[in-house]
Order: sequence, then structure tokens, then C-alpha cells
Amino acid sequence: MTMAIRLIKGASSTRGPFALLCAAAGARIRYSTAAAVSSTTTTVTSTTTTPAGHGAIAHGDPSFLESVDIYFDKAAAIASTTPDILAQIKACNNILKVQFPLKCANGTVELIEGYRAQHSHHRLPVKGGIRMAPNVDADETMALAALMTFKCAVVDVPFGGAKGGIKIDPTKYSMNEKEAIIRRYTSELVRKNFIGPSIDVPAPDYGTGPQEMAWIKDTFEHLQPNDINGSACVTGKPLEEGGIDGRTEATGLGVFFCLREFLNDETLVARLGMTKGIKGKTFIVQGFGNVGRHTVDYIHGAGGKIIAIAEADGGLVDESGDGLDIPAVKAYHKKKGTITGFPGAKTMKFAPSILELPCDVLIPAALESQIHSGNAGNIKAKIVAEAANGPVTPLAETILEDNDVVILPDLLLNAGGVTVSYFEWLKNLNHIHFGRMSKRMEERGKRVLIDALENEFGNGHRFSDTVRSQVVKGNTEVDFVWSGLEETMLSSWECVKKIAEERKCNFRTAAYLIAIERIATCYRVSGIFP
Ligand SMILES: *[C@@H]1O[C@H](CO)[C@@H](O)[C@H](O)[C@H]1NC(C)=O
Ligand SMILES: *[C@@H]1O[C@H](CO)[C@@H](O)[C@H](O)[C@H]1NC(C)=O
Repeated sequence: MTMAIRLIKGASSTRGPFALLCAAAGARIRYSTAAAVSSTTTTVTSTTTTPAGHGAIAHGDPSFLESVDIYFDKAAAIASTTPDILAQIKACNNILKVQFPLKCANGTVELIEGYRAQHSHHRLPVKGGIRMAPNVDADETMALAALMTFKCAVVDVPFGGAKGGIKIDPTKYSMNEKEAIIRRYTSELVRKNFIGPSIDVPAPDYGTGPQEMAWIKDTFEHLQPNDINGSACVTGKPLEEGGIDGRTEATGLGVFFCLREFLNDETLVARLGMTKGIKGKTFIVQGFGNVGRHTVDYIHGAGGKIIAIAEADGGLVDESGDGLDIPAVKAYHKKKGTITGFPGAKTMKFAPSILELPCDVLIPAALESQIHSGNAGNIKAKIVAEAANGPVTPLAETILEDNDVVILPDLLLNAGGVTVSYFEWLKNLNHIHFGRMSKRMEERGKRVLIDALENEFGNGHRFSDTVRSQVVKGNTEVDFVWSGLEETMLSSWECVKKIAEERKCNFRTAAYLIAIERIATCYRVSGIFP
């Protein structure tokens, strides 16, 4: 805390009223580098052009940022909008780089590097996670920010896209050191006006969680004590810090909803020579973090068989034929911090080959570019469900589609997280949790109805206490959240499916088309473009 307070002295905003006005109108703001420079931070502007090959992975695949551009261009080529609007939609509006010293517990001082990219201000605030990983850089952050813009548009969440990153390996730092890093990073964002309930609202991502979000909120509220909506400056907070019930499971549940809808569509599964439904289908997941863990939990609950899990340090392969016992794997993982060595399955040290085992659905739920031109040809799944951001490179997509593999794209599939973040932000702005005013009113109404039914038609019969309490139960916050999430995922999926059929393209291009055309409408009504 002392650290954060010390740092804010003399800080001033780099965004004047004019800049805010432009942002509201959907204009592209360029911060002047001179105005933004301080001893520790630099603000630079950038477009999405990158040096070729930077960050590229093996096998000649494009970098992550180039991949997002390739997917965008494919949809842009058939989008019904003008080239000037397309150029604006594609560009990353702002990228902030911060560097600051961290005094480690052992007395040494380390230079920490962080980023925040705001891709599009066509809607405000902009929104996107903050990750902590050793490979964070400006290009990756901009690519992820662009994905956020399109993702929000696909599921009709009224935010622009952003992303942040801190270039550290979080497992190498103590809790106190991580707290100091997050608090300092947050105060840098405050100084540059890169965070706030109406400006830019971060969330958890790879390597961060509710604890980090609580530190961000606390730092922000200390620095901006007069902002009554301060707790809406970040989402994914712990419940007692203004978080929302159901946020932790949200991305995984959203993945599950989409997969369930796809597998229940008779026409689509018939094209793959499959039968309808989740029950009995085989699934392989890469990643047992927040997203992967909850996704397989819901699939397991619906009767799907998880036959293998791949993690960075090794994987599990089921040998029983019934699928892994997911609750037991979760309990083991919680206790040991790893899935390897789980007694109910075979541990494989080399996890990448797990992705190539035969299955119905492969769910990459870890990092980007995991399925590339080097392994795509070996994938035996019929469906690849992108629970992670950008797990399939464009070269890999071509190979998979040549082999008749269907890809359910990240833009839609993992949008459950940002959808429930949107609900959390609304809750914070409303200063009341969902259901507080309605729960008992609903219950009273239903009790009156049940009494009336018994009196009019019961002929002396009464509903049992169990049935009565099931029927009468009013909706709590998590009921609202999951209902809102299901509605969002299902209506968005229907839209993506329809556009894919109408425009004769794959689901990814359909999702990009929907996003591009929705954002283009915003710019068209802004009056800036002819
Ligand atoms: C000091 O601690 C930091 C962070 O925990 C670590 O990265 C660094 O290697 C340590 N330095 C020495 C000399 O032990
Ligand atoms: C806080 O949010 C409400 C909307 O819920 C808004 O009307 C109000 O202006 C906001 N206050 C500040 C200080 O931003």
C-alpha cells in the first residue's frame, strides 16, 4: 500500500477532455509520446504491423499477431463495409509499455516490464485480461486485445477490446513480490489513465486470478477515492470484494454450452459421421487451469468421456475405457498442484503427443499457437473446440479443414468469461447484487400460485415439501448469471451458425464477419467516416 501511495505523487492524466470526446465518438486517439513519458513509463502508439517473423513459432507458422490479422483479413474480404472502416477496425489504438523496479525479498532489484493494449474504443470501457507470463510482449498483447474487441462484438457485450501483460514467470515470485508488482503496475495504469470503470476494465487471464484482481481494485480505490464506482475498475474479483457468483466457472461453462449445442445439432454432427449428444463422446483437453478444469467438469457431468488431459509438465491418459474420474483428478490436482502421478490413469511425460490421440473433440484450453503446421496433420479429433485464445494457427486451420475437422472458434467459444465480467461490472455500477430485490417477491408469488392450485384442483391433495420448495425457490445471483450466460452463448452460437451457412464460410470467419459488421455500424453512425 505504501508503495502505491508513494508512486502516485505528481501523477497527472495524459487524456484531456478532447481525447475523451474523440474516444466516445469512436475516433482513434494517439497519445503524444512526449506527454506520456515519465522516468519509468513510455507510451507508444502503434498499428498492427509487426516485423515479419517476430514471435513466430516453428514450422513457418505466422506469429500470433499475424495470425489474428490473417483471420481478420479473410473475413474482411467478404464483409459488407468500406476499406477505411476496415482499416480502423483492424488497427490497435493504443499500446502502453511500463517498466519499473521491484525490490525482491532477497534484496536484489529487478526491472519488471508490463504492457496494456487498447485495441478499439468503439464502445467504452475497453475490457480484457491481464496475464503474467515470461513470454509477454507488445505484439502478443496487441493480438489478444484485438481478439477481445471481436469477441465482445460476437457475444454483443458493449465493450471495446484491451489486454495487459506482465513479463514475469509468476511461479518464481513470492506472494508479497507479486502483490508489489500488481500494485505498482496498477498505479502506472492509473497515472496514464489506462484503468477505470468507464475507461478500461481489466480481468484475470493466464497466470492471474481473483487475488490479483483484489489488489488492483484496492490500489485503484486508494488512488481514486472519489470514484463511487471504483470497484467496477476490474472484474474477476473475489466474491467478498465485489465479485460475482459464477465468474470462476463462466468460461468453462460457456465452452460447454456451445459444445452441447453443436453436438445436439443433427445436421452438423451427421456431416461428421457422428451421432447426436455429448453422452459417450470422447474428449481430450489441453490445460487443466481455470478454463480446462471447469470445461471438463461440465462435460463429465453430462456423460462425456474425458480420455486424456495434457499439461505443461505431463499428461494423463485413461486406460479404463470409461474416461477419467474428473472429480478425483480435480481433488488430486488441488492437493499436489499437478495432475501427473494421478493413480487412476497412465501418466505421460511428453504431453504434446496427447493432442494426437484419437477422440471426438479436442479442446485446447491453454495458450496460443498450440496446434500448428507441425502437428495439425496428426490430429485425429473430428472437432477442435478453441477454449484458449488463438490455439490454432492459420496454416493448421487449413490442414485441419482439409481433413474435415470442424473448428469451433475462440471468438465465440471462450466468450463466457467476458460475458460474466460484463455482469460483474453491471453489478458494481448498480451497487446491488442480482436477485436481492426479487428473490423473496418471486417466492411469495409462487407460493400464492401453489396454494391456489391445491385449493382449486387438489381435491385434498397437497404438493410434497420437496416439490413445493423446488417450485417456490426464488432466483439467486448465480441463477441470473448462468441464465444470462446461457442466453448469450446460445443466441451467439445461433447467429454464428446462420452466418456461416448464409455466407458459405467456416465458423471462425462467420464470427469475425459478425464482429466486423457490428463494429462497422458503430463507426458508420459516429459520423467520422464518409
Ligand atoms: C532474488 O529473488 C528474485 C525473485 O524471487 C529472483 O528472481 C532472483 O533470482 C533472486 N536473486 C538471487 C541472487 O537469489
Ligand atoms: C457511477 O455509475 C453510475 C451508473 O451506475 C453513473 O450514473 C455515475 O455517473 C457514476 N459515477 C461516477 C463518479 O463515475
